Amino acid sequence: MRNIKIEDLSKAIHGQVILPKTNLMIPGGKFFALLGPSGCGKTTLLRLIAGLDTVDEGKIYLGDDDITRKPIHERPINIVFQNYALFPHLNVFENVAYSLRIKRIPKELINQKVFKILEAFHLEAHIYKLPSQLSGGQQQRVALARTIVNEPDVLLLDEPLAALDFKLREKMLLELIEWQDKLETTFIYVTHDQFEALTVADQMAIMNHHGEIEQIGTPKEIYEFPHSSFVARFVGTTNIWYGKLRELDSEPEIEIPDLGRFKIYIPKKKEWMQEGYDLVMSIRPEKILISKQEAKNFSNQLKGIVHSIVYHGRSTQYNVILKNKMKVQVFEQNEEHFPHEDIDYDDEVYLYWQKKNAVLLEK
Ligand SMILES: Nc1ncnc2c1ncn2[C@@H]1O[C@H](COP(=O)(O)OP(=O)(O)O)[C@@H](O)[C@H]1O
Ligand SMILES: [Mg+2]
Repeated sequence: MRNIKIEDLSKAIHGQVILPKTNLMIPGGKFFALLGPSGCGKTTLLRLIAGLDTVDEGKIYLGDDDITRKPIHERPINIVFQNYALFPHLNVFENVAYSLRIKRIPKELINQKVFKILEAFHLEAHIYKLPSQLSGGQQQRVALARTIVNEPDVLLLDEPLAALDFKLREKMLLELIEWQDKLETTFIYVTHDQFEALTVADQMAIMNHHGEIEQIGTPKEIYEFPHSSFVARFVGTTNIWYGKLRELDSEPEIEIPDLGRFKIYIPKKKEWMQEGYDLVMSIRPEKILISKQEAKNFSNQLKGIVHSIVYHGRSTQYNVILKNKMKVQVFEQNEEHFPHEDIDYDDEVYLYWQKKNAVLLEK
């Protein structure tokens, strides 16, 4: 499967830069997710790849093929949008068969292909229904079947599940993963929803508000080792502390105003890491332990007061206020058959974490 290479690609609309110079490698045959806030330029990038809009500058390659100026129908690329855009007057079968009829594929073969794909998408029972007689999930299945029947090399999915409820979305995500696995088509899945991106992606890219790619990596790399505080905040929930670097040459610490000094771990020294420099420390809520007892064997410990408790079923969220008025979130898995410790509002608690659980970022 051919990789997609995006080289110095940019786009402005009415003189306003929508997509600044972008470079990106999308591995062929993989499930790739592009995650970013609403309005950051994700759809714009997809439309350029599909050929729906013209490129201002830069190049798009599919393998060694320069497809930057190729017309839409000459690109082996299909796109699925959030609003399914099915033909309202055609039944399910005809919606899926439509593009094959245009290609003048023999009738027998069309029937074969369409029936096969409708079966795979669990739509056999709805073949003669009109889109208006289908549920949202069924309509989106038809939209997917309609693109996949074309056997594109690349499938672009622009927030395809945004209109569906959570349970259905979760189910469709798993189905999409299975489909991608089976077809080995390159999937580029665009979403503003971190849960969707983390669930489906082999590789993902994070786009910031300015349309710049901040980080590329596996979901685990992105979640565990964000490169910037934007990524740390946008993907998942995190606690952010501002402080100064101390004792860089012996046992590194972060000094946080009104809270004191905490041990930190520096796996690889970066250029900006200098004695006395400002830095940001990010710790995920689930990496912090909470207890009314003081901890032993932990490199770092803080005292605070429980401000509120939110029960989420499988986990509990504690919001703890520190001495410096900062609020810290802690998630605790509700795995115990018998709770070992009852923590209540206004309780004084200790929060502790291993130094390896804190990610250090440039301010
Ligand atoms: N045709 C257009 N004319 C003017 N502005 C546009 C047009 N298309 C998109 N934009 C602007 O470009 C920015 C990025 O849009 P878009 O790519 O749709 O973002 P996303 O898909 O990430 O939500 C937005 O600020 C949007 O208002
Ligand atoms: Mg969009």
